[in-house]
Amino acid sequence: MLKGKHIVLGITGGIAAYKSASLVRLLVKAGADVQVIMTPNAKEFITPLTLSTLSGKPVISEFFTANTGEWHSHVDLGLWADAMVVAPATASTIAKMANGVADNMLVTTYLSAKAPVFVAPAMDLDMMRHPSTLRNISLLQSYGNHIIEPAEGELASHLVGKGRMEEPENIVKALDTFFEKELSLKGKKILVTAGPTYEKIDPVRFIGNYSSGKMGYAIADCAAARGAEVVLISGPVSIIPTQPSVRVVKVESAKEMLAECERAYPDCNIAIMTAAVADYAPTEVSDKKIKRETTGIDSIALIKNPDIAATLGSKKKDGQILVGFALETDNEINNALEKLGRKNLDMIVLNSLRVAGAGFRTDTNKISICYPDNTRTDYDLKPKTEVAEDILDAVTELCKKD
Ligand code: PMT
Repeated sequence: MLKGKHIVLGITGGIAAYKSASLVRLLVKAGADVQVIMTPNAKEFITPLTLSTLSGKPVISEFFTANTGEWHSHVDLGLWADAMVVAPATASTIAKMANGVADNMLVTTYLSAKAPVFVAPAMDLDMMRHPSTLRNISLLQSYGNHIIEPAEGELASHLVGKGRMEEPENIVKALDTFFEKELSLKGKKILVTAGPTYEKIDPVRFIGNYSSGKMGYAIADCAAARGAEVVLISGPVSIIPTQPSVRVVKVESAKEMLAECERAYPDCNIAIMTAAVADYAPTEVSDKKIKRETTGIDSIALIKNPDIAATLGSKKKDGQILVGFALETDNEINNALEKLGRKNLDMIVLNSLRVAGAGFRTDTNKISICYPDNTRTDYDLKPKTEVAEDILDAVTELCKKD
């Protein structure tokens, strides 16, 4: 998968920089075109000569070449790259990347990069587990960067713990898998619903729920990154997709969401229903603010909203895949299976509000995927970006069976 790919390899000043020579060699062997960028400190650990010899290209380290005045454009490099890899990534470079401190060629290129970025941290174990490092790594993850987790083992300090840069072979494998996945949904049209719906009571009040849209937006971004054409039908949220190709259709109520879903669904190969749709709406909407002092309100009469997933399920054509979510507080598996059958879904993603770090508003989720044949896969608690990857891996498997 790496043949012909343009890889910008950023090398920072840590002892693991010696491994970058093998990394360059493996990337070149796999057919990639590698441009090395070194931070000034990286040159203390490995010479530019070694890396330029292996990559077949002059190494870039400064913004311009001092004796000729030749300018190195970080913008051009950022556009040239199919992927950027920072390996090893020291705590300092991770902090700069997380906070936009563009004081060297590597970080400026990172900030200009349109391509996916992979970061392979390498540092001593105490630096690795320091709250600032952990926060910076999770910031990078929240920007959509891929973290290649460091391994445990003996470190340069001779202490033993987590902080060894992942082996070059595994970094190449991670890139290879990424490019394979990148193409896995090419040609597919995917509909994703996300966020809450708001059901109006009057011009200032509504019935809604706590959905932030994070789960649905992560799925939409991930699907777009894998080459799918994505339409994201979203209730009111304050986030935006990180992938510019995602087409967002904003709605407010369940009825509006249904109408947009019915418009998009016939052309879609896959629909993933992540939205937390309000099951009920007020029977009447006051066009003026209901005043406590005058009009008053004792109770709100409610009417059932349409079930969007079930409506799409009833219209499902051969070859279409319909994925639902189940947000439960008890009797989780049985409730999820009941929804799976009733809504004619091909799989259902169960998350429970009983699990800390799962469900509404969190950056993480813990899911189980249930299938119509009663099989089930349970996943660990992980960032919603990674949960999205797991869900789309499962969807890709379903597409293969089709
Ligand atoms: O947005 P976040 O803060 O990241 O939170 C993510 C989430 C918790 C909202 C998400 O992971 C999730 O669980 N979404 C589904 C929430 C829900 O409404 O679940 P449900 O069990 O009530 O509904 C089952 C399925 O039917 C869902 O796919 C839902 O989108 C769909 N549905 C429900 C009611 C309705 N009237 N129409 C529907 O289409």
